[in-house]
Amino acid sequence: MSRSYPRTRAILICFVALFSALPPASSSAEEKKPPPRADYVGDSVCRSCHQEKSKTYLQTAHHLASSWPSPRTIKGGFAPGSNVLKTSNPYLTFEMTADEHGYFQSAVEQLSPTKKIARTERIDIVAGVARKGQSYLFWKGDQLFQLPVTYWTATDSWVNSPSYPDGSPHFDKDIIPRCLECHASYFDWLQPSINRYRKDSLILGIFCEKCHGPGRQHVALHRSKSSLPLGTSETIVNPKSLTRDRQIDLCGLCHSGNGTPIQPALTFLPGDALDDYIDIPYTSPEDAVDVHGNQVQLLRRSKCFQSTTTLTCSTCHDVHKPQLDAAAFSPRCLSCHQATQCGEYAKLGDQIVRNCIDCHMPLQDSRVLFSNTGGKKLTPKVRNHRIAVYASDSVH
Ligand code: HEC
Ligand code: HEC
Ligand code: HEC
Ligand code: HEC
Ligand code: HEC
Ligand code: HEC
Ligand code: HEC
Repeated sequence: MSRSYPRTRAILICFVALFSALPPASSSAEEKKPPPRADYVGDSVCRSCHQEKSKTYLQTAHHLASSWPSPRTIKGGFAPGSNVLKTSNPYLTFEMTADEHGYFQSAVEQLSPTKKIARTERIDIVAGVARKGQSYLFWKGDQLFQLPVTYWTATDSWVNSPSYPDGSPHFDKDIIPRCLECHASYFDWLQPSINRYRKDSLILGIFCEKCHGPGRQHVALHRSKSSLPLGTSETIVNPKSLTRDRQIDLCGLCHSGNGTPIQPALTFLPGDALDDYIDIPYTSPEDAVDVHGNQVQLLRRSKCFQSTTTLTCSTCHDVHKPQLDAAAFSPRCLSCHQATQCGEYAKLGDQIVRNCIDCHMPLQDSRVLFSNTGGKKLTPKVRNHRIAVYASDSVH
């Protein structure tokens, strides 16, 4: 199908190169501005009143979606024995080292037994908590780039950063605003550059206000009168009170693929219609959608979603807590279904009760997200969010 290629292209996100920061189309819509940084108070302030949610939130992948390098956040080996990535080019290796000035990646080219050249850059920002992998960013002046080596969790090893070619020393992949919009909370983008930011403006990780909107007014209100009953606050967004479409749009800002920005990064706020900010290409059910990063499109294709008006991401996920154990999700299915409804119940009985996910939301290989390393194509396994009966189910 000739049309599916560009669509598949449009959903290449994350590790994959985001080469062009398309400038917002200014002709049709008026260009919006992000709220000033002063409207955001930051997580430590929310924590002072919402302690329970904040405590568990600190362990989530959202909170750690980007971070400053530290022994706690950074993965992979920096000691001799585990700190070298060999490439398909016998004269090129990458070395990861750490000293009191920080963590570094070097490309070492052995031109002759005595002559080496090396380029070294410091890891300035860590991207990803490493559920599947972790990439690293560095500054050149006020320009932000991706480093050539990525940590791959499944093999606990270093690999070529996805979309960097195997065997040549590149340090030139731009970190565009859309990348930071999904992985960080705030930054001043020096428009109209592709990758320049005011360095001291970055707030890393995804903070509470990304999903609840700027909190300055809410905090001011509650500091002045502390005993308002729950639900009376119109100064902060509770996503629960949004329509289903707007709830999905909030998650969809980062979980429906790259898309093409219509408005500058950080202008979308919780409660807004995503369509006005990012052009997410329409996909028909026949189009292939990769399992990686397209949870919204896939969930929308499920009968469970189409036959109900209430199913949202929050039916299954509490984003204030780490979401780790697939078996723990079966009760969510059973809030609408009964195990006896399942065609396999007659055969397998109660053992299916804790296992709805394995068969109906299987782990599948991503085709768009991969690293070329050691002559192999490494792909991570991702949970398919189209809840359905899969052919392989019956092969059990
Ligand atoms: C449209 C939003 C979006 C953009 C743009 C995006 N990411 Fe991601 N990224 C995600 C989401 C969502 C996940 C988790 C997705 C999943 O597991 O399916 C993720 C996962 C990752 C991971 C793996 C994290 C882990 O814990 O395993 C890394 C590393 C990463 N992204 C780096 C980047 C970098 C670097 C860029 C920019 C060059 C980028 N991403 C652009 C949304 C985005
Ligand atoms: C000074 C204490 C205080 C601080 C600081 C504070 N809140 Fe609240 N918040 C409250 C109280 C009290 C309520 C319950 C009353 C209400 O619903 O307004 C509440 C309610 C909420 C609600 C539910 C609103 C609704 O309509 O259901 C959300 C969401 C929320 N806060 C998020 C945040 C976030 C995010 C931050 C940080 C930006 C924050 N709060 C900081 C005291 C605080
Ligand atoms: C600002 C962008 C952004 C928004 C908004 C966002 N996410 Fe995410 N989400 C991410 C990124 C990036 C990751 C991957 C982080 C990583 O692994 O390093 C992620 C990971 C996840 C994960 C897997 C990690 C985990 O916690 O187990 C779940 C589940 C998830 N998001 C659900 C949601 C839901 C539900 C919403 C809407 C309420 C939402 N997200 C809104 C960016 C976002
Ligand atoms: C990835 C998006 C996301 C992030 C980040 C996030 N929340 Fe929420 N929050 C939600 C959603 C979605 C709901 C509504 C859940 C529901 O439908 O039950 C919610 C509900 C709430 C409520 C309302 C209480 C209730 O039970 O209805 C409070 C208070 C709250 N969040 C505080 C916080 C605080 C504090 C942080 C940061 C430590 C935070 N949230 C981070 C998405 C988020
Ligand atoms: C909010 C309620 C709700 C939740 C939660 C829910 N479903 Fe459904 N599901 C439905 C409805 C309604 C249908 C359509 C039934 C019909 O058409 O007869 C459906 C259909 C299905 C189907 C048939 C799909 C098809 O393509 O024929 C399967 C399988 C299924 N659900 C499994 C699950 C599993 C597994 C979970 C948990 C991961 C789950 N559902 C969560 C409401 C829900
Ligand atoms: C071992 C794999 C497996 C497990 C575990 C499993 N299912 Fe199924 N399920 C299937 C298969 C295969 C079918 C299709 C059966 C058929 O067509 O006869 C099915 C069918 C269904 C249907 C559609 C029934 C219909 O005809 O519309 C629902 C709903 C469903 N399962 C829900 C669940 C729920 C809820 C759980 C967890 C309690 C679960 N399943 C666990 C494999 C599984
Ligand atoms: C019917 C239940 C259900 C719904 C609804 C649901 N999820 Fe999930 N989600 C899961 C399960 C189960 C997992 C796997 C958890 C695990 O393996 O530990 C998961 C995992 C994820 C992951 C991590 C993907 C991976 O493979 O690492 C992301 C990201 C995510 N969900 C986002 C979303 C978003 C965004 C929505 C709404 C569009 C959503 N989910 C709706 C059940 C659900």
